[in-house]
Amino acid sequence: MQTRLVGDIAAAADLDALEALRVAALGKAGSVTALLKTLGSLSPEERQSRGPEIQGLREAVTAAIATRKAALDAAALDVKLAAEAIDMSLPADATPRGSVHPVSQVMDELAEIFADMGFAVATGPEIEDDWRNFTALNIPETHPARAMHDTFYFPDKDAEGRAMLLRTHTSPVQIRTMMSEEPPIRIIAPGRVYRSDSDATHTPMFHQVEGLVIDRGIHMGHLKWTLETFLKAYFERDDIVLRLRPSYFPFTEPSAEVDVGYKQEKGRRIVGGSGDDEGHAWMELLGSGMVNRHVIANCGLDPDEWQGFAFGVGVDRLAMLKYGMDDLRAFFDGDLRWLAHYGFNA
Ligand code: PHE
Repeated sequence: MQTRLVGDIAAAADLDALEALRVAALGKAGSVTALLKTLGSLSPEERQSRGPEIQGLREAVTAAIATRKAALDAAALDVKLAAEAIDMSLPADATPRGSVHPVSQVMDELAEIFADMGFAVATGPEIEDDWRNFTALNIPETHPARAMHDTFYFPDKDAEGRAMLLRTHTSPVQIRTMMSEEPPIRIIAPGRVYRSDSDATHTPMFHQVEGLVIDRGIHMGHLKWTLETFLKAYFERDDIVLRLRPSYFPFTEPSAEVDVGYKQEKGRRIVGGSGDDEGHAWMELLGSGMVNRHVIANCGLDPDEWQGFAFGVGVDRLAMLKYGMDDLRAFFDGDLRWLAHYGFNA
């Protein structure tokens, strides 16, 4: 019996067959189990002679099963390994890698440049009320500047009866910061802004960075130095000159439109630039000015004690100028080929 059982086990073709043999021998109704059960009814003498024999049979069968199981497991593993072998000569999957969008990249760069000058980053919501977006910034309801902003309004007013809108500029973050923080204040506020406008140089959503400094004794010299330092760092060139043109914003007085100029070099393309007598290319870049004392007072600060300057610059425009891109709309198409063309895709 032992020879036959052990022979069958050693010849089991697979794990299922082996299990069937195990049950047939060692299971509840198994042949070996049946023999073990007979031990109880034997006389002590018989048990002495038959006992070791039957126990030996059980041990031999158990050992044979373990041996065969190990062999079948090893064979199964070999088959699996052979099937899963890695062919090192196959070409790798070309998984497209993501990259940081130029707008995000420029925003990060600006935050870094201004951090070096001691500016913190402030943020505000894209859904604003008309008090923070306009009124507090010295743009009353009847002011023509409201119409100029091509504002997207929401149909419903907020709990305080204020008209809700998509902010048309980052300037409401000035208001939020002055109302929640004690001066001195030095912040930049990057973010999305919205105007209902669309062509090659205007998209309904675009990005601005606002700058705000509030302290004692701040004057236009501080503004000019700050912008000059920022623009030289951003464009990575020292020969940059600024031109401050008198302008008008309700929230700054006096106000200045800032143009950036630098010597034109052969082969260096300047999008939107125009030349002057000294060979400078000029680009209109940002709006700025000394914070209007009404705005400072609207935020609960004493304008005789606190003064400051503010500026606002289009981030998309900064990116276009630096990377020589000429259609603003492409910024928001999400076309990976466009990103790759400008070196933004690894
Ligand atoms: N908020 C102005 C705009 O969007 C820009 C600006 C900001 C001008 C701060 C002056 C000071 O056009």
